[in-house]
Amino acid sequence: MIKKEIVLGELLRSNDYISGSYLGRILNCTRAAISVYIGQLRNEGYVIDSVTNRGYKLISAPNALIRELLTPYLNSRRTKTVLCVDSTPSTNLLLRSMAEEGAPDGQVVIADSQTKGRGRLGRDFYSPMGKGIYLSMLLRPDCPPEKTLTLTPCAAVAAVRAIEKTTGIRPSIKWVNDLLLGGKKTAGILTEMSIEAESGSISYIICGIGINVLEDETDFSEELRNIATSIKLYSGKTCFRAALAAALIEEFDHMRKNWLSDSNGYLEAYRELCVTKNCAITIHEPSGKQRTAHAIGIGDDFSLEVVNEDGSRESLKSGEVSIRPLA
Ligand code: BTN
Repeated sequence: MIKKEIVLGELLRSNDYISGSYLGRILNCTRAAISVYIGQLRNEGYVIDSVTNRGYKLISAPNALIRELLTPYLNSRRTKTVLCVDSTPSTNLLLRSMAEEGAPDGQVVIADSQTKGRGRLGRDFYSPMGKGIYLSMLLRPDCPPEKTLTLTPCAAVAAVRAIEKTTGIRPSIKWVNDLLLGGKKTAGILTEMSIEAESGSISYIICGIGINVLEDETDFSEELRNIATSIKLYSGKTCFRAALAAALIEEFDHMRKNWLSDSNGYLEAYRELCVTKNCAITIHEPSGKQRTAHAIGIGDDFSLEVVNEDGSRESLKSGEVSIRPLA
């Protein structure tokens, strides 16, 4: 870690003034050198107060998604496998190419914007600069492909917990992969898998999460405005994106440890957070066809239990549904 990042980390962690001599001691440099790092940070948009005989205090930091701001929230081993980029077509695609080059299990890519953010069913995921969090994580599980359907619900619970921990707001989940605030979408998850053709075994999985954090109403197109929201729009709170991104990594790391061995550990949480139950729904078939049904609950395998119009029962393992308002 470079010295300026260490100074920033100390300032971020402290609620009080930190003396130049203390910083000099831990960095093994002079107070004059410390004041140079402080000057550099100020030039980058950090507002740092300095008081004679007391030292430096961080007043505000730019709400940026950069490595220096993430590092203080994560342990130093974890940051080695977190890559932050300004912009990329899609973090899922960038991570896919890193996976092909041998990136390890747990590798994360975070972008400040995506020019071709990918959503489910071939849709785009709107990913404007400086507003959201676009994060993908690589997993290399040793299990058959059919065992992996629980990963998206697991990631959804991790994302809810990270948002709640950072902002105090608890989104709900719309089966299977959307996070909602006030009934509008604030986050989505796209899980993609690569399978080895000969053996049929998993090469890797990429789980991508996109969260609308700081968007105002005018940041969304008229079409999106009716169905999408951000944490700021819903709560009036300006969440610090680096803290939320770090919380997302921590929660996901924690949950994926038992993702395959103990899905019961997050099944109840998922059921409690999921609003797609006891409601009328429209099922959107991959073919483009739509049909109506009634959702009655979440099965033990995270499938959506529905009763069709003809009274037959069905377990949807994956797919896209929308909740119909009651007539
Ligand atoms: C959806 O709601 O349809 C899924 C949206 C997933 C968006 C995230 S943003 C990070 C990752 N990179 C992508 O291109 N897509 C996912």
